[in-house]
Amino acid sequence: MSKTKTVFYCQNCGTQSPKWIGHCHQCDQWNTYVEEVIQKADDNERGWKSGSTGQVAQKPVALEHVDYLKEQKIETKDAELNRVLGGGIVKGSVVLIGGEPGIGKSTLLLQIALSLSGKKILYITGEESEQQIKMRAERIGAKNQNCFILCETGTQNIFKQIELFSPEIVIIDSIQTLHSSFIDSGAGSISQIKECAAELIKYAKESGTPVFLIGHVTKEGSIAGPKILEHMVDTVLAFEGDQHHLYRILRTTKNRFGSASELGIYEMTGCGLREITNPSEILLNQRDENYSGISVGVTIEGNRPLLIEVQALVTPSAYGTPQRSATCFDLRRMSMLLAVLEKRCGFRLGVQDIFLNIAGGIKTEDPALDLSVLCAVISSFNDIQIPATSCMTAEVGLSGELRPVNRIESRISEAQKLGFKEIFVSRYNLKGIDVSRFQSGKNAIKLSAFTRLEEVLGAFRVS
Ligand code: TYD
Ligand code: MG
Repeated sequence: MSKTKTVFYCQNCGTQSPKWIGHCHQCDQWNTYVEEVIQKADDNERGWKSGSTGQVAQKPVALEHVDYLKEQKIETKDAELNRVLGGGIVKGSVVLIGGEPGIGKSTLLLQIALSLSGKKILYITGEESEQQIKMRAERIGAKNQNCFILCETGTQNIFKQIELFSPEIVIIDSIQTLHSSFIDSGAGSISQIKECAAELIKYAKESGTPVFLIGHVTKEGSIAGPKILEHMVDTVLAFEGDQHHLYRILRTTKNRFGSASELGIYEMTGCGLREITNPSEILLNQRDENYSGISVGVTIEGNRPLLIEVQALVTPSAYGTPQRSATCFDLRRMSMLLAVLEKRCGFRLGVQDIFLNIAGGIKTEDPALDLSVLCAVISSFNDIQIPATSCMTAEVGLSGELRPVNRIESRISEAQKLGFKEIFVSRYNLKGIDVSRFQSGKNAIKLSAFTRLEEVLGAFRVS
């Protein structure tokens, strides 16, 4: 019999060490190392199809002879989910959904399970009782006779039930509650998570059944457990949003079957999550009056152009140190943009408090929002209104130049579709595009092209 092997793991970052140490050199935390068994003597019986005699040796196959069926994706009724998954649920794929407690992970997956009527679905939960799930299903209101609930946390028992039941989709709520009897440490520990995920991935790949895993997140917002978990699965989705906002965003952070920057938007209602098919409408505040400090930026998330309202408030600071605060926008990027404004356009913002808010609570990293952030700040500072029918999309460089952004045509078309009459873009963006296509017809939109930030400011003073 081989000896039981143990190793020490940092509970914070997952670094391994053969001996116990008090201080983790990797993440600078203290007292985070715990001993975990990584391998037990009897290794033949672990995981999916336990007890089979040894492994079947795989043979190399010519790539040309590999069969690939196009219709292997299961389309759900949820268009937002289909989009973030790259077209639908791929057979044999493993999808990890992470998010803060109470954001709606269980609701989302139960809703998917209930909407896929005709498919045999096994929802395995280690967190809630059957009654609790039933109550949630009643709230959601959909019915699927083929949706089955299993309250179980041991992987061996789960695989036994799966073998008897042969489901078409498996949902695990959550990976942190599972435990495999081949590992000694408790549920939720790094080696348990790794082992349970490995067993489930093996099952998914061999049986072709899609598996959804719900994952908890740590205080910092990353999925709890080893980073390697994200490498092991095919798709990682992050379910984000503010508990106080109604809107929830499902974002792809990794996808082996499609684009990794897709985004789905939902609203949490009294009866489950509702898809938002036209997000720009909720991201733009319906306003009757125009105020200063508001501008509209055109961003692209994944494949979708979104129009987002940026609000800024600039007030003289009462104390020595001016405050800078940004909600849903990178504070460092904001400081950089303000510095450009001071240096290149001569605004004295050093004695002003500046607050920035992206309406709707959508975090975006598209640099095309730069120009609208600066315009909102200037609009508030000078107390001038930006016409409600104008929007803008351009990146601002350190020397105050407006830089071109990608996919300009789809941005302009989206603004046009929503009834905007003017869009501010970088002049470099207009090379090679057919400007007259946008500037004629019923929905005509004026393309105002600029090379430098100062020119944009000049345009406002006139209007
Ligand atoms: P839940 O799916 O349990 O969150 P998670 O699994 O991510 O921890 O959902 C939690 C919140 O959603 C909870 O505060 C109640 C709310 N909710 C609704 O507002 N409407 C609904 O129809 C449902 C089912 C939940
Ligand atoms: Mg839950």
